[in-house]
Amino acid sequence: MKRHLILALGLVVLGGLLMGMAPEAKVDHELVGSSKCKSCHKKIGNPYVLWQDSAHAKAYETLGTPEAKKIAADQGLGDPQKEEACLKCHVTRVFLGNPAVNAKGKYADTEGVGCEACHGAGSDYKKKKIMKDHDAAVANGMIREKTEEHCTQCHNSDSPTYKEFDMEKRWAEIDHPVTEKK
Ligand code: HEC
Ligand code: HEC
Ligand code: HEC
Ligand code: HEC
Repeated sequence: MKRHLILALGLVVLGGLLMGMAPEAKVDHELVGSSKCKSCHKKIGNPYVLWQDSAHAKAYETLGTPEAKKIAADQGLGDPQKEEACLKCHVTRVFLGNPAVNAKGKYADTEGVGCEACHGAGSDYKKKKIMKDHDAAVANGMIREKTEEHCTQCHNSDSPTYKEFDMEKRWAEIDHPVTEKK
Protein backbone atom coordinates (compact mmCIF):
# COMPACT_ATOMS: atom_id res chain seq x y z
CA MET A 1 0.00 0.00 0.00
CA LYS A 2 2.61 2.49 1.19
CA ARG A 3 4.95 1.49 -1.63
CA HIS A 4 2.27 2.09 -4.21
CA LEU A 5 1.63 5.53 -2.81
CA ILE A 6 5.31 6.43 -2.92
CA LEU A 7 5.57 5.10 -6.48
CA ALA A 8 2.50 7.07 -7.58
CA LEU A 9 3.86 10.26 -6.00
CA GLY A 10 7.22 9.62 -7.64
CA LEU A 11 5.58 9.29 -11.05
CA VAL A 12 3.63 12.52 -10.57
CA VAL A 13 6.82 14.37 -9.62
CA LEU A 14 8.77 12.83 -12.52
CA GLY A 15 5.96 13.60 -14.97
CA GLY A 16 5.86 17.19 -13.77
CA LEU A 17 9.61 17.54 -14.17
CA LEU A 18 9.60 16.14 -17.69
CA MET A 19 6.70 18.36 -18.71
CA GLY A 20 8.35 21.41 -17.21
CA MET A 21 11.60 20.67 -19.02
CA ALA A 22 10.43 20.15 -22.58
CA PRO A 23 6.71 20.21 -23.18
CA GLU A 24 6.90 19.31 -26.87
CA ALA A 25 9.70 16.73 -26.83
CA LYS A 26 8.78 13.08 -27.13
CA VAL A 27 10.35 10.82 -24.53
CA ASP A 28 9.42 7.43 -25.93
CA HIS A 29 12.10 7.23 -28.63
CA GLU A 30 12.33 3.84 -30.32
CA LEU A 31 15.32 1.73 -31.30
CA VAL A 32 16.09 1.63 -35.02
CA GLY A 33 19.34 -0.38 -34.97
CA SER A 34 22.91 0.47 -35.96
CA SER A 35 22.40 -0.55 -39.57
CA LYS A 36 19.91 2.34 -39.92
CA CYS A 37 22.70 4.73 -38.92
CA LYS A 38 24.96 3.02 -41.42
CA SER A 39 23.01 4.34 -44.41
CA CYS A 40 24.39 7.82 -43.73
CA HIS A 41 27.35 7.29 -41.46
CA LYS A 42 29.28 5.22 -43.94
CA LYS A 43 29.30 8.17 -46.29
CA ILE A 44 29.72 10.96 -43.73
CA GLY A 45 33.11 9.92 -42.38
CA ASN A 46 33.27 6.32 -41.30
CA PRO A 47 31.79 5.87 -37.80
CA TYR A 48 29.89 2.75 -38.82
CA VAL A 49 32.90 0.91 -40.15
CA LEU A 50 34.94 1.77 -37.06
CA TRP A 51 32.17 0.57 -34.74
CA GLN A 52 31.63 -2.63 -36.72
CA ASP A 53 35.28 -3.58 -36.16
CA SER A 54 35.12 -2.74 -32.45
CA ALA A 55 34.53 -5.07 -29.51
CA HIS A 56 31.16 -3.38 -28.89
CA ALA A 57 29.72 -4.86 -32.10
CA LYS A 58 30.66 -8.32 -30.85
CA ALA A 59 29.33 -7.97 -27.31
CA TYR A 60 26.36 -10.29 -27.93
CA GLU A 61 28.41 -12.85 -29.82
CA THR A 62 30.86 -12.92 -26.92
CA LEU A 63 28.08 -14.17 -24.63
CA GLY A 64 27.89 -17.30 -26.77
CA THR A 65 31.50 -18.36 -26.13
CA PRO A 66 32.51 -21.22 -23.82
CA GLU A 67 34.24 -18.62 -21.58
CA ALA A 68 30.94 -16.73 -21.17
CA LYS A 69 29.00 -19.92 -20.48
CA LYS A 70 31.47 -20.88 -17.79
CA ILE A 71 31.26 -17.45 -16.11
CA ALA A 72 27.45 -17.72 -16.12
CA ALA A 73 27.43 -21.29 -14.81
CA ASP A 74 29.78 -20.29 -11.97
CA GLN A 75 27.19 -17.67 -10.97
CA GLY A 76 24.36 -20.20 -11.12
CA LEU A 77 22.99 -18.63 -14.31
CA GLY A 78 21.80 -20.28 -17.53
CA ASP A 79 22.51 -19.27 -21.16
CA PRO A 80 24.29 -15.87 -20.99
CA GLN A 81 22.63 -14.81 -24.27
CA LYS A 82 19.31 -15.03 -22.43
CA GLU A 83 20.26 -13.83 -18.95
CA GLU A 84 19.31 -10.25 -18.11
CA ALA A 85 22.29 -10.19 -15.70
CA CYS A 86 24.61 -10.35 -18.73
CA LEU A 87 22.48 -8.66 -21.39
CA LYS A 88 22.19 -5.45 -19.38
CA CYS A 89 25.76 -4.50 -20.38
CA HIS A 90 26.14 -6.52 -23.59
CA VAL A 91 22.97 -5.56 -25.48
CA THR A 92 21.67 -2.05 -26.30
CA ARG A 93 17.97 -2.74 -25.67
CA VAL A 94 18.41 -4.22 -22.21
CA PHE A 95 21.00 -1.58 -21.24
CA LEU A 96 18.54 1.19 -22.15
CA GLY A 97 15.80 -0.40 -20.04
CA ASN A 98 13.76 -1.95 -22.84
CA PRO A 99 12.63 0.88 -25.11
CA ALA A 100 10.26 -0.14 -27.91
CA VAL A 101 11.79 -1.47 -31.11
CA ASN A 102 10.73 0.60 -34.14
CA ALA A 103 8.67 -1.52 -36.55
CA LYS A 104 10.39 -0.02 -39.60
CA GLY A 105 13.84 -0.19 -38.03
CA LYS A 106 16.48 -2.91 -38.19
CA TYR A 107 17.27 -3.31 -34.52
CA ALA A 108 18.31 -6.76 -33.29
CA ASP A 109 19.90 -7.78 -29.98
CA THR A 110 22.67 -9.48 -31.95
CA GLU A 111 24.26 -6.09 -32.68
CA GLY A 112 25.51 -6.02 -29.08
CA VAL A 113 26.48 -2.56 -27.83
CA GLY A 114 25.26 -0.54 -30.80
CA CYS A 115 25.29 3.16 -31.68
CA GLU A 116 22.12 3.76 -29.71
CA ALA A 117 23.60 2.47 -26.43
CA CYS A 118 25.71 5.64 -26.42
CA HIS A 119 23.71 8.00 -28.64
CA GLY A 120 20.16 7.19 -27.50
CA ALA A 121 17.29 5.45 -29.30
CA GLY A 122 17.24 6.96 -32.77
CA SER A 123 13.72 6.89 -34.22
CA ASP A 124 13.14 10.61 -33.69
CA TYR A 125 16.58 12.13 -34.42
CA LYS A 126 17.75 10.05 -37.38
CA LYS A 127 16.23 12.30 -40.07
CA LYS A 128 18.89 14.24 -41.94
CA LYS A 129 17.36 17.64 -41.22
CA ILE A 130 17.33 16.96 -37.48
CA MET A 131 20.76 15.29 -37.43
CA LYS A 132 22.43 18.33 -38.97
CA ASP A 133 21.08 20.57 -36.22
CA HIS A 134 22.71 19.65 -32.90
CA ASP A 135 20.03 21.22 -30.69
CA ALA A 136 17.19 19.62 -32.64
CA ALA A 137 18.93 16.26 -32.45
CA VAL A 138 19.34 16.55 -28.68
CA ALA A 139 15.68 17.60 -28.30
CA ASN A 140 14.78 14.42 -30.17
CA GLY A 141 16.79 12.10 -27.96
CA MET A 142 20.32 12.24 -29.38
CA ILE A 143 23.02 11.94 -26.73
CA ARG A 144 26.63 12.94 -27.27
CA GLU A 145 28.52 12.64 -24.02
CA LYS A 146 32.20 11.89 -23.95
CA THR A 147 32.40 11.36 -20.23
CA GLU A 148 33.95 8.62 -18.18
CA GLU A 149 30.65 8.25 -16.27
CA HIS A 150 28.88 7.26 -19.47
CA CYS A 151 31.31 4.42 -20.09
CA THR A 152 31.53 3.23 -16.50
CA GLN A 153 27.83 2.41 -16.52
CA CYS A 154 29.15 -0.83 -18.04
CA HIS A 155 32.90 -0.69 -17.54
CA ASN A 156 32.74 -1.24 -13.80
CA SER A 157 33.44 -3.97 -11.26
CA ASP A 158 29.98 -5.54 -11.74
CA SER A 159 31.48 -6.92 -14.95
CA PRO A 160 32.73 -10.44 -14.24
CA THR A 161 35.83 -9.80 -16.41
CA TYR A 162 36.42 -6.23 -15.25
CA LYS A 163 39.68 -4.63 -16.30
CA GLU A 164 40.60 -1.26 -14.93
CA PHE A 165 39.08 1.46 -17.07
CA ASP A 166 41.40 4.14 -18.41
CA MET A 167 39.18 6.59 -20.28
CA GLU A 168 41.88 8.10 -22.47
CA LYS A 169 43.28 4.77 -23.61
CA ARG A 170 39.93 3.08 -24.10
CA TRP A 171 38.45 6.04 -25.95
CA ALA A 172 41.37 6.01 -28.38
CA GLU A 173 40.42 2.41 -29.24
CA ILE A 174 36.83 3.30 -30.19
CA ASP A 175 37.15 6.90 -31.40
CA HIS A 176 35.09 7.36 -34.57
CA PRO A 177 35.40 10.91 -35.89
CA VAL A 178 33.61 12.11 -38.98
CA THR A 179 36.51 12.44 -41.39
CA GLU A 180 34.89 13.72 -44.56
CA LYS A 181 31.76 15.80 -44.69
CA LYS A 182 29.20 15.60 -47.41
C1 HEC B 1 19.63 10.46 -43.03
C2 HEC B 1 21.05 10.39 -42.70
C3 HEC B 1 21.43 10.06 -41.26
C4 HEC B 1 21.04 8.99 -40.51
C5 HEC B 1 20.09 7.85 -40.88
C6 HEC B 1 21.74 9.11 -39.24
N1 HEC B 1 22.54 10.23 -39.25
FE1 HEC B 1 23.71 10.90 -37.71
N2 HEC B 1 24.22 12.55 -38.80
C7 HEC B 1 23.82 12.80 -40.10
C8 HEC B 1 24.36 14.10 -40.51
C9 HEC B 1 24.15 14.75 -41.88
C10 HEC B 1 25.08 14.60 -39.40
C11 HEC B 1 25.85 15.91 -39.34
C12 HEC B 1 27.25 15.63 -39.74
C13 HEC B 1 28.15 16.81 -39.66
O1 HEC B 1 27.66 17.93 -39.60
O2 HEC B 1 29.35 16.58 -39.61
C14 HEC B 1 24.97 13.61 -38.35
C15 HEC B 1 25.55 13.74 -37.09
C16 HEC B 1 25.52 12.76 -36.09
C17 HEC B 1 26.15 12.88 -34.79
C18 HEC B 1 26.87 14.11 -34.27
C19 HEC B 1 25.76 15.03 -33.84
C20 HEC B 1 26.12 16.24 -33.06
O3 HEC B 1 25.33 17.20 -33.12
O4 HEC B 1 27.13 16.26 -32.37
C21 HEC B 1 25.89 11.72 -34.13
C22 HEC B 1 26.33 11.38 -32.72
C23 HEC B 1 25.11 10.87 -35.01
N3 HEC B 1 24.91 11.54 -36.19
C24 HEC B 1 24.69 9.60 -34.68
C25 HEC B 1 23.75 8.88 -35.44
C26 HEC B 1 23.16 7.63 -34.99
C27 HEC B 1 23.48 6.92 -33.71
C28 HEC B 1 22.29 7.25 -35.97
C29 HEC B 1 21.38 6.02 -35.99
C30 HEC B 1 20.43 5.92 -34.87
C31 HEC B 1 22.34 8.25 -37.02
N4 HEC B 1 23.23 9.21 -36.65
C32 HEC B 1 21.61 8.20 -38.19
C33 HEC B 1 23.03 11.99 -40.88
C34 HEC B 1 22.39 10.84 -40.47
C1 HEC C 1 26.20 -0.66 -22.70
C2 HEC C 1 27.43 -0.98 -22.02
C3 HEC C 1 28.69 -0.29 -22.45
C4 HEC C 1 28.96 1.07 -22.54
C5 HEC C 1 28.03 2.21 -22.23
C6 HEC C 1 30.34 1.18 -22.98
N1 HEC C 1 30.87 -0.07 -23.17
FE1 HEC C 1 32.74 -0.48 -23.85
N2 HEC C 1 32.34 -2.49 -23.78
C7 HEC C 1 31.15 -3.05 -23.34
C8 HEC C 1 31.22 -4.49 -23.46
C9 HEC C 1 30.13 -5.48 -23.08
C10 HEC C 1 32.49 -4.78 -23.99
C11 HEC C 1 33.06 -6.18 -24.30
C12 HEC C 1 32.64 -6.60 -25.66
C13 HEC C 1 33.25 -7.94 -26.04
O1 HEC C 1 34.45 -8.15 -25.83
O2 HEC C 1 32.50 -8.75 -26.56
C14 HEC C 1 33.17 -3.50 -24.19
C15 HEC C 1 34.46 -3.35 -24.72
C16 HEC C 1 35.11 -2.16 -24.89
C17 HEC C 1 36.45 -2.02 -25.42
C18 HEC C 1 37.34 -3.15 -25.86
C19 HEC C 1 38.26 -3.44 -24.69
C20 HEC C 1 38.52 -4.85 -24.38
O3 HEC C 1 39.07 -5.07 -23.28
O4 HEC C 1 38.17 -5.75 -25.15
C21 HEC C 1 36.75 -0.68 -25.39
C22 HEC C 1 38.05 -0.03 -25.82
C23 HEC C 1 35.60 0.02 -24.84
N3 HEC C 1 34.62 -0.91 -24.56
C24 HEC C 1 35.52 1.39 -24.64
C25 HEC C 1 34.39 2.07 -24.18
C26 HEC C 1 34.32 3.51 -23.99
C27 HEC C 1 35.47 4.47 -24.19
C28 HEC C 1 33.05 3.78 -23.59
C29 HEC C 1 32.42 5.13 -23.30
C30 HEC C 1 32.55 6.13 -24.36
C31 HEC C 1 32.32 2.52 -23.52
N4 HEC C 1 33.18 1.52 -23.88
C32 HEC C 1 31.00 2.39 -23.15
C33 HEC C 1 30.07 -2.37 -22.87
C34 HEC C 1 29.91 -1.00 -22.85
C1 HEC D 1 28.36 -4.20 -15.53
C2 HEC D 1 28.37 -4.55 -16.92
C3 HEC D 1 28.59 -5.99 -17.33
C4 HEC D 1 27.88 -7.09 -16.92
C5 HEC D 1 26.73 -7.16 -15.92
C6 HEC D 1 28.43 -8.22 -17.65
N1 HEC D 1 29.45 -7.80 -18.46
FE1 HEC D 1 30.65 -8.98 -19.62
N2 HEC D 1 31.78 -7.38 -20.12
C7 HEC D 1 31.53 -6.08 -19.73
C8 HEC D 1 32.61 -5.23 -20.20
C9 HEC D 1 32.68 -3.73 -20.00
C10 HEC D 1 33.53 -6.06 -20.87
C11 HEC D 1 34.87 -5.67 -21.49
C12 HEC D 1 35.98 -6.08 -20.58
C13 HEC D 1 36.06 -5.25 -19.34
O1 HEC D 1 35.39 -5.60 -18.34
O2 HEC D 1 36.78 -4.26 -19.32
C14 HEC D 1 32.96 -7.40 -20.81
C15 HEC D 1 33.57 -8.53 -21.38
C16 HEC D 1 33.08 -9.82 -21.28
C17 HEC D 1 33.72 -10.97 -21.88
C18 HEC D 1 34.98 -10.97 -22.74
C19 HEC D 1 36.16 -11.26 -21.90
C20 HEC D 1 37.15 -10.17 -21.86
O3 HEC D 1 38.07 -10.30 -21.06
O4 HEC D 1 37.05 -9.19 -22.59
C21 HEC D 1 32.96 -12.06 -21.53
C22 HEC D 1 33.22 -13.52 -21.89
C23 HEC D 1 31.85 -11.57 -20.72
N3 HEC D 1 31.95 -10.20 -20.60
C24 HEC D 1 30.86 -12.37 -20.18
C25 HEC D 1 29.84 -11.90 -19.35
C26 HEC D 1 28.81 -12.78 -18.76
C27 HEC D 1 28.72 -14.28 -18.96
C28 HEC D 1 28.00 -11.98 -18.02
C29 HEC D 1 26.82 -12.38 -17.16
C30 HEC D 1 27.09 -13.37 -16.14
C31 HEC D 1 28.52 -10.61 -18.14
N4 HEC D 1 29.62 -10.62 -18.97
C32 HEC D 1 27.97 -9.52 -17.50
C33 HEC D 1 30.47 -5.63 -18.97
C34 HEC D 1 29.57 -6.45 -18.30
C1 HEC E 1 30.66 3.35 -26.61
C2 HEC E 1 29.89 4.51 -26.95
C3 HEC E 1 29.65 4.84 -28.41
C4 HEC E 1 29.24 4.00 -29.41
C5 HEC E 1 28.93 2.51 -29.33
C6 HEC E 1 29.09 4.81 -30.59
N1 HEC E 1 29.44 6.11 -30.31
FE1 HEC E 1 29.43 7.69 -31.60
N2 HEC E 1 30.27 8.89 -30.18
C7 HEC E 1 30.43 8.54 -28.85
C8 HEC E 1 30.92 9.69 -28.14
C9 HEC E 1 31.22 9.74 -26.65
C10 HEC E 1 31.08 10.74 -29.10
C11 HEC E 1 31.60 12.19 -28.87
C12 HEC E 1 33.06 12.30 -29.20
C13 HEC E 1 33.57 13.70 -29.06
O1 HEC E 1 32.81 14.63 -28.85
O2 HEC E 1 34.81 13.87 -29.18
C14 HEC E 1 30.66 10.20 -30.37
C15 HEC E 1 30.66 10.90 -31.58
C16 HEC E 1 30.01 10.49 -32.72
C17 HEC E 1 29.85 11.27 -33.94
C18 HEC E 1 30.40 12.67 -34.17
C19 HEC E 1 31.82 12.55 -34.61
C20 HEC E 1 32.44 13.85 -35.09
O3 HEC E 1 33.59 13.81 -35.56
O4 HEC E 1 31.80 14.89 -34.98
C21 HEC E 1 29.14 10.52 -34.84
C22 HEC E 1 28.71 10.92 -36.23
C23 HEC E 1 28.87 9.25 -34.19
N3 HEC E 1 29.42 9.26 -32.92
C24 HEC E 1 28.18 8.21 -34.77
C25 HEC E 1 28.11 6.92 -34.25
C26 HEC E 1 27.55 5.79 -34.96
C27 HEC E 1 26.90 5.87 -36.33
C28 HEC E 1 27.70 4.69 -34.15
C29 HEC E 1 27.37 3.25 -34.46
C30 HEC E 1 27.80 2.74 -35.74
C31 HEC E 1 28.34 5.15 -32.92
N4 HEC E 1 28.57 6.50 -33.02
C32 HEC E 1 28.66 4.34 -31.82
C33 HEC E 1 30.17 7.31 -28.29
C34 HEC E 1 29.77 6.17 -28.98
